[in-house]
Amino acid sequence: MEVIVQETAPEMSKAAARVVAHVLNCKPNAVLGLATGSTPLGLYKELVRLHVEENLDFSQVTTFNLDEYVGLTQKDPQSYHYFMHENLFRHVNISKSNIYIPSGTTDNYAAFCQWYEQRIIDCGGIDLQVLGIGSDGHIAFNEPSSSLGSRTRIKTLAKQTIDDNARFFSAPEQVPVYAITMGVGTILEARKIMLLANGESKALAIAQAVEGPVTSMITASALQLHRDCLCILDREAASRLKMLDYYTWIQAKMPNAP
Ligand code: PGA
Repeated sequence: MEVIVQETAPEMSKAAARVVAHVLNCKPNAVLGLATGSTPLGLYKELVRLHVEENLDFSQVTTFNLDEYVGLTQKDPQSYHYFMHENLFRHVNISKSNIYIPSGTTDNYAAFCQWYEQRIIDCGGIDLQVLGIGSDGHIAFNEPSSSLGSRTRIKTLAKQTIDDNARFFSAPEQVPVYAITMGVGTILEARKIMLLANGESKALAIAQAVEGPVTSMITASALQLHRDCLCILDREAASRLKMLDYYTWIQAKMPNAP
């Protein structure tokens, strides 16, 4: 895994945006895998700026989101549909028909999950998958003990995730208990993966994911098996990495790194 450490979260977001922009400049019809949560907010803000000020073009881009809460409609302000439209899609020139987000309201989840997996394949596979990490080490909603070969499916949220995400809801009881999520196996099929994390609350999960053993108890650790995974952190999220000096030294040797 390639680890890039930036001093601050805004710098992390800008570095991540440069990676996305590079992918889109090389392949204008790229397929992006997108994440929600507070971590990628700065990335989306910077992508919007690049679109407005530097003509970064999304007209041929296709996107697949990682997950959605079960039971929330697309118009629900807490839904990931709403989040993506508010924070990215409505500000850039992406075609609505190229946006895919798991449905939180289908009446046949098994069929929907199979269709979602097939759509990713039919669109040529994901070129760049953006990921955040949960404080319990999850990627998407692949909670501890999820199979590292898992595919898109319904997942029961862990207590820690419900507690972490309660800040977005009026009360902890409002946080849905189930989510529909891409699996770890689905994520690992992306051609390139970019894991983002900022803040001290992510430092332990990042240390476990990057330097700990590969284990389904920290599903982000499965990214160690991916041949092209870039991890962009701010200083606080990187603070518990044992090999921090090594990553910083490598970074200093690569002036063109993001
Ligand atoms: P956060 O969530 O970006 O809101 O911290 C990340 C995640 O749970 O994957």
